[in-house]
Amino acid sequence: MMGREHMQNIALVDDAELIAIVDPDLGSREEAEALGKTLGQEFQLFENADAMFADMKPDAVIVASPNFTHFEVARRAMAHDVAILLEKPFCTDTDDAAELEQMAGDYPHVFWVGMEYRYMPPITRFIDRVQAGETGAAKMLYIREHRFPFLAKVGDWNRFNRNTGGTLVEKCCHFFDLMRHTLQDEPVRIFASGGQDVNHLDESYDGKVPDILDNAYVVIDFAKGTRAVLDLCMFAEGAEQQEEIYALGPIGRLDVAIPAATVTWSPRDKSGVVTEDVATPSDALAAGDHHGATYFQLRDFHAALAGETQPKVSAIDGLRAVQMGAAAQQSIATGLPVQLDFKSGGVGNG
Ligand SMILES: NC(=O)c1ccc[n+]([C@@H]2O[C@H](COP(=O)([O-])OP(=O)(O)OC[C@H]3O[C@@H](n4cnc5c(N)ncnc54)[C@H](O)[C@@H]3O)[C@@H](O)[C@H]2O)c1
Repeated sequence: MMGREHMQNIALVDDAELIAIVDPDLGSREEAEALGKTLGQEFQLFENADAMFADMKPDAVIVASPNFTHFEVARRAMAHDVAILLEKPFCTDTDDAAELEQMAGDYPHVFWVGMEYRYMPPITRFIDRVQAGETGAAKMLYIREHRFPFLAKVGDWNRFNRNTGGTLVEKCCHFFDLMRHTLQDEPVRIFASGGQDVNHLDESYDGKVPDILDNAYVVIDFAKGTRAVLDLCMFAEGAEQQEEIYALGPIGRLDVAIPAATVTWSPRDKSGVVTEDVATPSDALAAGDHHGATYFQLRDFHAALAGETQPKVSAIDGLRAVQMGAAAQQSIATGLPVQLDFKSGGVGNG
């Protein structure tokens, strides 16, 4: 799924050329070939990365394989001196994530983690306005996602925590990254309550029922005093906005809604609510399911490859988002808050 979205968006980035696809699954390779024809892309297909690297030297590799393969696929690609865009989540557990972050820190090429929610134009605009101080220093940040259940994946890998890292790592790493990025701050404490109450309970794979959370509330204290909340539901999405994010400060409230693509300013002094429509180019909007984000992320990744900009999402960002998700999963499992100490690199029980 995500590989196809990258194909569609590479086709939109000036001077970017897709030269190869590696996928061990024949059905996926055939689908890639068919999509490539409709996009006018000519590329080679390989069953494994060793075969590709024996045959060619790409400038960059986009890793869009299942979560549990990220560590090994990225590590092996790094042996070939290529730039890397590694899809989220960075890794499925914090030990692998810490090790990969160390390797990426010493890596002399672009290493970028796919935290693309930052790149949805309405969310980018919201972040810019919060960081410009419109609300005053944000005291509360609230992220709500009420969406459809996890989709079917090739080989059903996303039905089990051991393959994904758990729902709060797998998909909510995006939201934890948005919190850190918007606030330019680090979390110090996480408490979460969640469960698997509705979805996938009637499914079975090799006799095993999926074990992935489908709803959670996560409360996070940040170092400078901001309180943040993630409200996730994956079974009753409602009819309107899939995502809503609110920043609340002493001057007022900014909020952004997806897919409405509006940023709304509600001043505390009641001087009038102002709603801004934030447009996304229609070709980027149509090239995937992430409100145009993949295009803007790839455009900037390509610019970083060309040396025109610095990489904007680092391995540290990837690691932190995994650590926050894992801490939230741990809090659910134990019923206890988890203290985080990112300044000294530690993560421990509260
Ligand atoms: N950034 C986002 O918003 C976003 C959205 C969806 C998925 N993703 C991420 O993209 C990745 C892929 O998810 P998906 O939804 O496309 O899953 P998918 O199951 O649809 O596709 C994964 C593909 O990877 C192939 N694969 C398995 N092992 C491989 C390997 N070692 N090397 C190369 N290919 C391999 C599979 O055969 C399959 O074709 C996951 O890490 C997922 O978390 C990111």
